[in-house]
Amino acid sequence: MLTPQIANAQRIFVLFHFLTMANVPGVSILAPVDATQAEILTPEALTFIATLQRAFNGTRKSLLQRRNYRQQELDRGVLPGFLPETAFIRNDPNWRAAAPAPGMQDRRVEITGPVDRKMVINALNSGAKTFMADFEDSNAPTWENNISGQVNLRDAVRGTISFTNPAGKQYTLRKDGKAAVLLVRPRGWHLEEKHVLVDGQAMSGSIFDFGLYFYHNAHQLIKNGFGPYFYLPKMESHLEARLWNDVFNVAQDMLNIPRGTIRGTVLIETILAAYEMDEIIYELRDHSSGLNCGRWDYIFSFIKKFRLNPEYVLPDRSDVSMTVPFMDAYVRLLIQTCHKRGVHAMGGMAAQIPIKNDAKANEAAMTKVRNDKLREVHAGHDGTWVAHPDLAKIALEVFNEYMPQPNQIHIRRDDVVVAASDLLNINFKGAITEKGIRDNIDICLTYTEAWLRGSGCVPIMNLMEDAATAEISRSQLWQWAHHKPRTSEGTQVTPELLSKILDEEINRLKKQLGDKYASSKYDSAKRHLATQISGEVSAYKDFLTTQLYDDIVQINSKSKL
Ligand SMILES: *[C@@H]1O[C@H](CO)[C@@H](O)[C@H](O)[C@H]1NC(C)=O
Ligand SMILES: *[C@@H]1O[C@H](CO)[C@@H](O)[C@H](O)[C@H]1NC(C)=O
Repeated sequence: MLTPQIANAQRIFVLFHFLTMANVPGVSILAPVDATQAEILTPEALTFIATLQRAFNGTRKSLLQRRNYRQQELDRGVLPGFLPETAFIRNDPNWRAAAPAPGMQDRRVEITGPVDRKMVINALNSGAKTFMADFEDSNAPTWENNISGQVNLRDAVRGTISFTNPAGKQYTLRKDGKAAVLLVRPRGWHLEEKHVLVDGQAMSGSIFDFGLYFYHNAHQLIKNGFGPYFYLPKMESHLEARLWNDVFNVAQDMLNIPRGTIRGTVLIETILAAYEMDEIIYELRDHSSGLNCGRWDYIFSFIKKFRLNPEYVLPDRSDVSMTVPFMDAYVRLLIQTCHKRGVHAMGGMAAQIPIKNDAKANEAAMTKVRNDKLREVHAGHDGTWVAHPDLAKIALEVFNEYMPQPNQIHIRRDDVVVAASDLLNINFKGAITEKGIRDNIDICLTYTEAWLRGSGCVPIMNLMEDAATAEISRSQLWQWAHHKPRTSEGTQVTPELLSKILDEEINRLKKQLGDKYASSKYDSAKRHLATQISGEVSAYKDFLTTQLYDDIVQINSKSKL
């Protein structure tokens, strides 16, 4: 065992050693870097991402500011609509986006998951057509997770990735040419990489994740017969898509890669982006590989954006299904828009996961997944998401049966007419219940606690929770505390009631965990959640993850030495 002093001295030495080695003017790394990490954070790679940061950080910041202005409008009760200034883009039937890139014709099942080494191998081997490696919602963005994720992807792209678990079990890539095609989801525009400063400013997390992956792998991916493919999260306007397109162009130019090689699939997962689907494809048209119905974040965004509007208080999370009017309109408009422009309309994620040791419950959960995929393939989606290798089979069966060809982009859905108000139609049956409140509190506590320990993807009550689903629960609690609706049992929801339930849940956990409670992060999780169930206007955070992030910056400045 090293004494803390020696460990510290070593840490300082490593940091110092690395900085002298990197020697990239204006770039500082505020975390220790071990030998493997240094293979990713090379001076050339850092110069590359710093160039992108300097070129685009100003635009990024002003677009984030623009999000605040739009929120202020919504807070005043102005409802969103299709933009008059871009009507010419929507109304022009003649333009098309790029044709599908190599390996991207057939995307019937996409598996998603964090960039953990074993999971990367399992996902690539799962039989899914594509794998979205996630630096975003299913990743707790610790320094170690992010950088080792880059190492894992580098090795995956070169086919050399392997892993041996503590029991000696070996994991390697399948060699039959059927490994999933890799797509990478960088963090959204709002997130910063606080360990890396460029000219004294924290870097954009998006540019950091995108840039390092692109820098190290783009040429190799092209050599492999594919390309650098991405999923682009959480955008709120077509101007944010334009920023990505500009980043792509400069990045391709710098590495002498032809423009139009990159592909990005945009997650339509905010209510505002739903009004700009055509425009988003248009901005990215040389780089677009379609849109995806990111349903969980979409619901979260809906609650968040209208949180002050008493007309938009939603019932329990479990009542907000894909078939309620506003969700159904969103799905239909997305499919129609994508197919009109010749790109994929991807479906989303059913949250159910296999339930071990309970065959009956498992069968019920798997039936839910199957029905969800059936709905998607019939609606016209060109593929769908799963979060677990066991579910890839079910999704494949459904899509193989009802979509024998690689995609169904040819199905135009000219029958679909979606008005601005349809995307806001919450006229459906649902209720706020005491169980709904307690489940939300439980999910938030469990998820936050796990996230603070470095895990961003957590099974809770037989559903896979990631940041998006946890955000729904958090925002609902805030919204209910703020508007004080009545539950179906007749109780008025108040901040006091939520606080009382929070205490009860914490006490239950203390009993359940016994001695282990002290080493858990439940006290921190409770502290964070308490602010979010007050219903106070100033207490609501745009993103739970930005609220929590500072806690893990500390934790993860630990050296691996
Ligand atoms: C990983 O993601 C977080 C969240 O944005 C970021 O701030 C953190 O510094 C990142 N670490 C690395 C090395 O990317
Ligand atoms: C953006 O980042 C660059 C480089 O990190 C920095 O020099 C610049 O001041 C930042 N711009 C804004 C508007 O914060």
